[in-house]
Amino acid sequence: MGRILMLLFVSVLVLTGCVKKVEPKKDAKLEEAKIVAGKAAGEFMKELKSILVAEMKKGGPESALNVCSDTAQEFAKTYSVKKGMELKRVSFLNRNEANIPDEAEVMWLKECENMMKAENFNKDTVFFRVERSANSRTLHLAKPILLAEECVVCHGTDEQIPANIKKLIAEKYPNDKAVNFSPGDLRGLVTVKMKL
Ligand code: HEC
Repeated sequence: MGRILMLLFVSVLVLTGCVKKVEPKKDAKLEEAKIVAGKAAGEFMKELKSILVAEMKKGGPESALNVCSDTAQEFAKTYSVKKGMELKRVSFLNRNEANIPDEAEVMWLKECENMMKAENFNKDTVFFRVERSANSRTLHLAKPILLAEECVVCHGTDEQIPANIKKLIAEKYPNDKAVNFSPGDLRGLVTVKMKL
């Protein structure tokens, strides 16, 4: 009788979830930061694109030029202040040398290129690592940016970019490498750094 009662007691505990398997402790802070930073990266790119497209409709590529340049840099700054994280866009073939990828970003960009070559690329891939210093930890997260149809007027082939745009680009970015992209190409990464 005692044994049966004991068995019953244990089953009730298990069924109600009072006895749980011991799971390895998750880094809750990191998991939460990954969600917040991933969301911010997506939002940043979406807002940037919608401003770019609206400006193109209103004033053509000439007036949109500063959206992808000054607005992007400004936008990244205000976004960073507002959200307490550092947002950037980086690319091997950059127009602005401020957008050169760092060591981890080079690795991630290469990984994207390899996945594209192997035809198993997923545009929703999220890369991350934790950078540690003596007394702090920083989440570094990145997502790929693909070229869209709307982008070719400024990042496409010589024939696709209007002469006045080419002139403006050449004046402002004498070392421009961000041309000859086609829709669907890997354009770069949007990256976020966030203290944990
Ligand atoms: C009206 C012209 C124009 C259009 C359209 C445009 N861009 Fe740009 N893009 C620029 C300029 C100018 C820069 C340099 C930005 C800077 O100074 O940081 C740039 C920079 C970038 C960068 C940062 C890396 C680098 O090369 O310095 C990315 C990524 C990028 N563009 C992606 C896109 C995508 C994706 C689209 C389409 C949704 C797009 N651009 C459409 C003009 C444009």
